Amino acid sequence: MLLPLGAIALLFSQIHACAGSAAPPVITQFAPPAVQHSWAAYTPYFAVEPYTPPPEGCRIDQVRAFLQRHGARFPTSGASTGILTALNKLQSATSFTDPRLDFLRNYTYALGKNGDLIPFGAFQSEEAGKEAYARYSHLVSPQNLPFVRASSAERTVDSATNWTLGFSIASNHVLNPPLAVGNDTLDDSMCPNAGSSDAQTGVWTAIYGAPIAARLNAAAPGANLTAADISAFIPICPFESAAKDATSPFCALFTPAEFAQFEYFGDLDKFYGTGYGQPLGRVQGVGYVNELLARLTGAPVRLGTQVNATLDTDPTTFPLSRALYADFTHDNQMAAIYAALGLFAQRAPLDPAAPDARRTWVASRLTPFSGRMVVERLACAGGAPHVRVLVNDALQPLEFCGSDRDGLCTLAAFVASQAYARGNGLGDFAKCFT
Ligand SMILES: *[C@@H]1O[C@H](CO)[C@@H](O)[C@H](O)[C@H]1NC(C)=O
Ligand SMILES: *[C@@H]1O[C@H](CO)[C@@H](O)[C@H](O)[C@H]1NC(C)=O
Ligand SMILES: *[C@@H]1O[C@H](CO)[C@@H](O)[C@H](O)[C@H]1NC(C)=O
Ligand SMILES: *[C@@H]1O[C@H](CO)[C@@H](O)[C@H](O)[C@H]1NC(C)=O
Ligand SMILES: *[C@@H]1O[C@H](CO)[C@@H](O)[C@H](O)[C@H]1NC(C)=O
Repeated sequence: MLLPLGAIALLFSQIHACAGSAAPPVITQFAPPAVQHSWAAYTPYFAVEPYTPPPEGCRIDQVRAFLQRHGARFPTSGASTGILTALNKLQSATSFTDPRLDFLRNYTYALGKNGDLIPFGAFQSEEAGKEAYARYSHLVSPQNLPFVRASSAERTVDSATNWTLGFSIASNHVLNPPLAVGNDTLDDSMCPNAGSSDAQTGVWTAIYGAPIAARLNAAAPGANLTAADISAFIPICPFESAAKDATSPFCALFTPAEFAQFEYFGDLDKFYGTGYGQPLGRVQGVGYVNELLARLTGAPVRLGTQVNATLDTDPTTFPLSRALYADFTHDNQMAAIYAALGLFAQRAPLDPAAPDARRTWVASRLTPFSGRMVVERLACAGGAPHVRVLVNDALQPLEFCGSDRDGLCTLAAFVASQAYARGNGLGDFAKCFT
């Protein structure tokens, strides 16, 4: 399900309100949702489905993981380089034959270049904290505060503190959970020998990028854009729109079908980067899954992978008695964790040359900015504890543990299904280093 038209605009207008600006709230015409939801990993958070309350006879007794990606940010330095290369080529054209390019005669690129959180990303993180309080306030108290961690990157720390601020505001400042940072399973790039998605994304870029490059080169003679420039350049639309709170003029250069092709580029990037398509992808999630299993069962964390033994054997740095845990991380790490758990498994590996319209591995639905996976533990009438998993509010089918029609597995079946994590990656972890 797509966000109703105007909802993102409303969110953007609330930023103005939050900023305390004297100007009346501006409802922007940000971008048509169908396109905005095809921005792959640069899509701002949206609920993929309405939240399903627990089935009758069950109540949530613990939220064992609230795993969230940092909010919307500026491009990283690598992405900035790619954007600027393509932009310089376009601006060096001798003339423009398409009026949609005329604004380039007097355009200066001015986005941050270090991947820092932007105000909209801070806002969505804060909203997530408020929503978590609204949904789970019955589980927490001053004696049982949420336990909040972040990877060491500045944008995840900023996302976590803004989430905590939202949680605090929603509780009338009664609940102010502290933040633990760094040396945990939330960092990314923890497997030096892992390969990249370059081969697969390169195949698709050559296919979908070439006609777009040809069209732009015809409109900007002498620009000489290549197919590879296109995959690097399309992100200027989502980045500039979110940073400036207004639809970037670059968005008009691409059709909805082309954004859908870019989405597939992003899907391949995650699938072959740290997801199922990467031989050393899933293993990067096993440390986190072992922490999740420890929280679900109350047993000590299995050591030996990305888990920091000093932190995770100390109840002050890794408690097992809290009711709500919130963790802030990166999209690549979330893709690895999804794959380690068995979520979004595909019938066959994604074909780099041909998107399957029925695929469920879609980056904008898995890891948008501020995207989140929630693992709820449920107490059900007269039965064993159960588990269910929501990703961006969409209840996940847990085939791997035989879930019922409400999406519930027994805790025992869920734990049993996690043989890969419980076996520390069945030999894969060592391959990260040898
Ligand atoms: C170019 O843009 C700048 C800032 O947006 C503006 O001050 C200037 O007048 C513009 N120049 C032309 C020729 O439009
Ligand atoms: C929220 O994030 C911003 C960065 O966008 C950061 O400067 C600010 O300190 C954060 N707010 C809180 C309360 O941590
Ligand atoms: C994490 O551990 C490394 C050594 O492995 C240390 O240099 C660094 O300061 C630690 N970071 C934090 C945030 O504790
Ligand atoms: C584990 O975390 C502690 C505290 O941040 C840090 O000092 C230590 O270096 C970390 N160990 C490893 C192996 O990173
Ligand atoms: C584009 O290619 C043509 C012919 O190969 C070359 O003459 C021109 O300098 C190139 N333009 C740029 C901006 O690289």
